[in-house]
Amino acid sequence: MQHADQVAYLERMLRMVRTNTRDDGPGLSYTAVDSYFDPERYRREVGLMFRRQPVVVAFSGQLRRPGDFVTHDATGQPILVARGTDGVLRAFLNVCRHRSGTVEQKPCGANKRAFVCAYHGWSYDLTGRLVGITDGAGFGDLDKSTHGLRRLKVAEKYGLVWVVPTALDDGEPADLDIDAWLGPLAPDLAGWDMAGWEVQESLPIRPRMNWKLVIDTFLELYHFRYLHPGSVYPLFLDNIATYERMDRHVRLSAAKRSLVELEGQPKETWKILDHAIVLYLLFPNTVLAYTQDHCGVFSSFPVGPDESVMQLTMLVSPEEKARKPDSYWKTNVDLFTAALGEDFAMGESIQRNFRSGANRHQTFGKFEKALGWYHREIDAALEAAS
Ligand code: FES
Ligand SMILES: [Fe+2]
Repeated sequence: MQHADQVAYLERMLRMVRTNTRDDGPGLSYTAVDSYFDPERYRREVGLMFRRQPVVVAFSGQLRRPGDFVTHDATGQPILVARGTDGVLRAFLNVCRHRSGTVEQKPCGANKRAFVCAYHGWSYDLTGRLVGITDGAGFGDLDKSTHGLRRLKVAEKYGLVWVVPTALDDGEPADLDIDAWLGPLAPDLAGWDMAGWEVQESLPIRPRMNWKLVIDTFLELYHFRYLHPGSVYPLFLDNIATYERMDRHVRLSAAKRSLVELEGQPKETWKILDHAIVLYLLFPNTVLAYTQDHCGVFSSFPVGPDESVMQLTMLVSPEEKARKPDSYWKTNVDLFTAALGEDFAMGESIQRNFRSGANRHQTFGKFEKALGWYHREIDAALEAAS
């Protein structure tokens, strides 16, 4: 995030404190409650947003060296990402071309030279090429060159790995222009310089909530005072936050209680992370939350219309990792999971209440405008794809 933007955000939030105002949009916005549970709507969302568009499935810190690999099933597609001996990162469907067995069973690993299917032992190299057929005579002249693992489009940038989870045809290019997808967010992500950061923690949480409702919990600060009085609210000012639409994505910042110490300090010395957190919604399902010493990554994946899995990952720079003991990071993750426990207990009741008939739509106030943007963007994406 550019320094000028940091100062502008901090100034805006200081002004809100001084004038007791909020970052209000022009009016109320709404989204239909059935978009959170209708099975046909759900099918369309998954078909577009978890098949045709880029989603974050891994981190550079897990895939540093040749032979490193990660598997990922949460999109509903079996994905294998591996770094070749040539240093190139590739993504595949983790599905054997013999009889569709799962090729790599482990969630991640290192020093891999070949992936060997557990069913009948067919083997694939790190580029996905089929290199071995056991008892090969039994397969006559089957053309190995057309039975490699199916490739997926993949991009690695800013410490994150995106995949488009639909099989490419043979010969189709696998590169993905992620900066075009990120638009105005790209320079911000470049600025945080996360390419060398490590995965400190990664754990799944399985709320009985629609995958979008999980994202909703991150898009406003209004609820902190009421839902998180003993966990995260003590760190923040009451609903002092600024929200900005950045193409399909969102950038927001929330002021910590120390913000007011900036009054009278020279602006050249202002650093946003000293007095606020900065969050990005990477459309449609990933939130990055930058704090003073780490980045929390929250990715929501659909399991069913009323169920999701959220992968919580904590990324830290090697310098910060060296500076602080594991117990420090553990305490931090515990604080996150305590707050998320509060969010998701409420979220699960909301998901149940959707079917009660009480509301046809969710109502978003002027400072809940980011929720309105988010749901409008989802609607627009579905519309454009139909
Ligand atoms: S299904 Fe993989 S070797 Fe048979
Ligand atoms: Fe919350």
